[in-house]
Amino acid sequence: MKFQGFCRKIYLCAMTEKDFIPKSYPAQVEQGEVTWQSPSNIALVKYWGKLENQIPANPSISFTLDSCRTTTTLKFKKKQQRADNFHFDLSFEGEKKESFRPKIQKFLERIDPYLPFLRDYDLSIETSNSFPHSSGIASSASGMSALALCLMSLEKQLNPEMNEEYFTRKSSFLARLGSGSACRSIEGDLVVWGMHNNIYRSSDLYGVPFRDEVHDNFKNYRDTILLVDKGEKQVSSTVGHDLMNDHPYAEQRFRQAHDNLDKLKKIFRSGDLDEFIKVVESEALTLHAMMMTSQPYFILMKPNTLAIINKVFKFREETGLHLCFTLDAGANVHLLFPEKEEEKTLQFIENELKQYCQNGQYITDRVGSGAKKLA
Ligand code: PMV
Repeated sequence: MKFQGFCRKIYLCAMTEKDFIPKSYPAQVEQGEVTWQSPSNIALVKYWGKLENQIPANPSISFTLDSCRTTTTLKFKKKQQRADNFHFDLSFEGEKKESFRPKIQKFLERIDPYLPFLRDYDLSIETSNSFPHSSGIASSASGMSALALCLMSLEKQLNPEMNEEYFTRKSSFLARLGSGSACRSIEGDLVVWGMHNNIYRSSDLYGVPFRDEVHDNFKNYRDTILLVDKGEKQVSSTVGHDLMNDHPYAEQRFRQAHDNLDKLKKIFRSGDLDEFIKVVESEALTLHAMMMTSQPYFILMKPNTLAIINKVFKFREETGLHLCFTLDAGANVHLLFPEKEEEKTLQFIENELKQYCQNGQYITDRVGSGAKKLA
């Protein structure tokens, strides 16, 4: 017991759900506004499959991105009387966005026990993305993490004693309740989410920065996102995660994710780019293999996704460079490569891969350092 008390005080141990339920707020806040900019992230070991309350079925690790961001401003004003319902206005890129309301309503309901002040305020949420509208890039990670951070800034005003570590962990914890992978968007540059025996302080409840040694080869890693298909996905991530419940290969897949994290841990230390490629590409293909072997089965890759993958294999064989691909739950392709190979790789993308993108569109991004509060 003594040891537990010690752990809680300086947050050496993993925090529990109870740690995120505030007891009381010492300060009063009438009104104000706050703005956060939060990035997207790209998973190297993928999260696919979840238990109740957004608990991941396996641990995952991602690179935090830099320029693919959501900017969210939260304005808040105390109501004369606390109401039973949440009250919020919502706009996206300057226009009211009714279609986002159910998702935000559900998010507020989920986080209500952890932010008991929510019903005391009229909230106005204004949000915009740095990446092109309807690009097929999921904005749930950057969007939910930006909103979670704004709400935490209000909580910090109500409880000015709150320390930075608690602020960051709870932001990630809340973001997870909005969209699982959003909990990996608060910090940079590599974030782990999900319990793993060999990753220090890893938790199913929130993301933590990967604190082991990382070779210079992986510093400033590049991610160019090829926009292959900008339409709405036919199958949502929520449905995909649920299909892992009765999936014939689920158990092996979850074990494989643990093993791949162990492998990546070694690779990050050694800087072995060939081994990195093997793990990352296998993870991407396994994710899509899970989709193709669930019941009902579905395919999110498009012919151009495969054309790009084959071109990447050929480019690697011909040049010996370390370009590799990964995929989200969609047809777009993320191309990962080291900073020092940027020039030749970008030339190849422009000359040979652009033609497979819708309207020739792609986004050049890189690994970033996490969310930022704007003045
Ligand atoms: O956060 P969600 O529920 O949208 O799931 C994201 C799942 C993948 O992007 C496919 C993988 C991952 O770990 O980000």
